[in-house]
Amino acid sequence: MNAHAQIRAPHRLRFPDHPVAGKAGASFKPEHFDAIAEDSGFGGFFEVHAENYMGAGGPPHLALAAIRQRFPVSMHGVCMSIGGPQPLDEAHLARFAGVVERYEPALVSEHLAWSTHDDVFFSDLLPLPYTSATLDHVCAHVDQVQEAIGRRILMENPATYVLFAESTWSETDFIREMARRTGCGLLLDVNNVFVSATNHGFSATDYLDDFPLDLVGEIHLAGHDEQADDDGRPLLIDTHDRPVPDPVWSLYETVIAHTGPVPTLVEWDSDIPDWHVLRAEAEAAGRILDRNASLAEARHGTVV
Ligand SMILES: [Fe+2]
Repeated sequence: MNAHAQIRAPHRLRFPDHPVAGKAGASFKPEHFDAIAEDSGFGGFFEVHAENYMGAGGPPHLALAAIRQRFPVSMHGVCMSIGGPQPLDEAHLARFAGVVERYEPALVSEHLAWSTHDDVFFSDLLPLPYTSATLDHVCAHVDQVQEAIGRRILMENPATYVLFAESTWSETDFIREMARRTGCGLLLDVNNVFVSATNHGFSATDYLDDFPLDLVGEIHLAGHDEQADDDGRPLLIDTHDRPVPDPVWSLYETVIAHTGPVPTLVEWDSDIPDWHVLRAEAEAAGRILDRNASLAEARHGTVV
């Protein structure tokens, strides 16, 4: 890792009292509720999509309230369209702020992407042209979200399938500058890095060398589908429907060796397996965190 990746102290040492410090977690899926209720041994945290809890009541809130009583929760927004050129949807932002206030999550995050244009809502998170004009409105939107919820958010790097010819910033420089201007933190999705690197033919390791790892407050891991484009080249799709593949684990280990134990979440959003399968994925991440926590504490002194 180059100079950009140098950090002051590992994450768990910088935030020892944070509710998810050094922990690994998993997406919360309602179909796992009963299994989780019977599982007294899971020591991680759960992440939910804020949009699933924007109604006033009903079964989703009963389930999440019970989960929140036992575990730290991270709140992940997927529909804010922070990267879009049009103003944020004020009603959506108010609902988002309401969910954050209700559950007091340990972490709050959104995407560096857009998903709406005029009255059209897309089901995908779409990439941005990395220009100074885009940076201006992304920063304005991040400021607006942080002001609405009264706290810092983590912004997630996207998985991309196309690039914009008009981009004048690299993605890592764009992200670094967004964080500098707004004070937001970053959610590093290692699977997204691998997917984008494969699709566009760049080095995932070089990307991570240039990523501002000292600002990362959470890491995502997930599985992806392997397809081929019309020319037979590999095309990876960020599907969140299977275990984390070996190359993503390997990149993750490299990152954690440099950052120390950053809270890590295994995402799984379709073809949902039994709880014990997802739990095992989170525990695999937890073992990597624990191993590196021991190393980091030996290097920097024990947390008291
Ligand atoms: Fe993610």
